[in-house]
Amino acid sequence: MANIKILGLAGSLRKASFNRAALRAAQGLVPAGATLEILDLPDLPGFNQDNEKSPPAAVTDMKAKIRAADAILLVTPEYNYSMPGVLKNAIDWASRPYGDSAWKGKPVAVMGASVGALGTARAQYDLRKCFVFLDMPVVNQPEVMISAAAEKFDKDGNLTDAKAKELIGKLLAALCELAGRAGR
Ligand code: FNR
Repeated sequence: MANIKILGLAGSLRKASFNRAALRAAQGLVPAGATLEILDLPDLPGFNQDNEKSPPAAVTDMKAKIRAADAILLVTPEYNYSMPGVLKNAIDWASRPYGDSAWKGKPVAVMGASVGALGTARAQYDLRKCFVFLDMPVVNQPEVMISAAAEKFDKDGNLTDAKAKELIGKLLAALCELAGRAGR
């Protein structure tokens, strides 16, 4: 695994977010030789196509970080059976203007944590649909869906669930392998 640089984004702005906590846990589970840098999701204005050629500085920074990465890890909450608007909004900003998407060709993996029983399954499948148009090769397996999240993190936001940790480790290994095959 030759020095794969992963950029991780979690789709929650909440301080005590389980998804941000899961992303921090992932930092300790990367395969040897790989690194995982966390990019806090910028608090962006709603995407307006009129402004796509003069985006906020945070969008320009985010696009540069995405471009510098070999692979992307997206950690999504589930809101109303789909991904949160803040995550979709960030994806939309970084995908524009047409022909200047930062996402194109980037290997990606997805995981998520929710307090519900399905562990963000529905949000993840909606997110996977975006990868088709964004032209991002995606890790199919394992699927990491952390259900009943309140029981799987301690009060300091540390992931305590052994099965979830094992799956995150496997997901990151698969992401690095995919990035390696893509010549990153
Ligand atoms: C939720 N939550 C939620 N959970 C779920 O499993 N399926 C869902 O459709 C929803 N819908 C939903 C909508 C909105 C607007 C909120 C605020 C919450 C609960 C959600 O899993 C919980 O708030 C998580 O803690 C959110 O993730 P973070 O912020 O902890 O990362």
